[in-house]
Amino acid sequence: MSKNPVVVVDSFTKVYGDGTRIGPITLHVGEGEVYGLVGPNGSGKTTTLRAILGLLKPSGGKVSVYGLNPYSHPEKVNQKIGYSPEIPNYPPFFTAEKLLRVTCNMKKIIGKDADNEVRRILDLTGLVNHADRKIGNFSKGMVQRLSIGQALVGDPPLLILDEPMLGVDPVGRAHIRDVLLQLRKQGKTIIFSSHELYEVQRLSDRVAMVYMGKTVFEDMVMNILNNSPETKVVAELVSEPDGKLAKALEEISGVLEVAFEANKVVISVDSSLDPREKIAEKIVNLGYGLREFRISQPSLEEVFINRVKESVSG
Ligand SMILES: Nc1ncnc2c1ncn2[C@@H]1O[C@H](COP(=O)(O)OP(=O)(O)O)[C@@H](O)[C@H]1O
Ligand SMILES: [Mg+2]
Repeated sequence: MSKNPVVVVDSFTKVYGDGTRIGPITLHVGEGEVYGLVGPNGSGKTTTLRAILGLLKPSGGKVSVYGLNPYSHPEKVNQKIGYSPEIPNYPPFFTAEKLLRVTCNMKKIIGKDADNEVRRILDLTGLVNHADRKIGNFSKGMVQRLSIGQALVGDPPLLILDEPMLGVDPVGRAHIRDVLLQLRKQGKTIIFSSHELYEVQRLSDRVAMVYMGKTVFEDMVMNILNNSPETKVVAELVSEPDGKLAKALEEISGVLEVAFEANKVVISVDSSLDPREKIAEKIVNLGYGLREFRISQPSLEEVFINRVKESVSG
């Protein structure tokens, strides 16, 4: 990883009292990254985040946050982390402002500093106009934004958000997405969990996909979408493709499979050999004419489903 590592989880395992086993889970989170931890319910996301927070003792493997073991240095590590739990639970009669003030107080931010901090956070989370409303009257999306806001008190560099989009409607989600993108612009490192791949694909620089307690894979989203076997080259031709063209293309090293769809040739490639240029050259040289040439990326969901199938069958 080129960036400074902020969180490293290396073959982390947790065996709960009833024998439930999570792991091995491996994550590498670089400074300033938005990191998506994704997987279905029960796959071990919350367990992993709690280990990063130092709230539980790993049964095996290594967890390090800014170079420290969070379980043995909880105070030092917690100063650098803001945490929004999976199910925020606030006194319903508190106002948003009151909750943030109480949190400032707990973090020893007082007087004018507290005024400024509360104002800053209400602004950032878009809750300025709701500062005096009781949390019991908040929508789910507003509660989530407030919970992110609470994590921001004291301006910690690392944010851990457990399912920040859970149960939030599309408009509320867009709002939360905006808040997270603003935080990324400020240079925060953000780890968030979600079981919704579409959200994760839109927001994250890097993802780890967990399934049944294990990391199925981890990489930059860009790499996953550009270099997976699901990534295809699509060439639209002037004349109709035929068997002769298919044969010629299959001879190129790095071409795995050639299919036709009307005037289009859809080609699975081995991205590490990057045969794109040779494909375009051959099409043109053989006189088929090239109208359009592009890369068709899969969705993260497609990649995840295929990797899970592979990991179950293999
Ligand atoms: N305190 C606990 N004791 C026993 N099992 C637990 C405990 N916490 C979580 N689990 C189990 O561990 C698995 C992973 O849970 P969790 O980390 O909450 O997953 P996720 O956040 O991905 O939904 C689940 O099977 C869950 O029931
Ligand atoms: Mg969870």
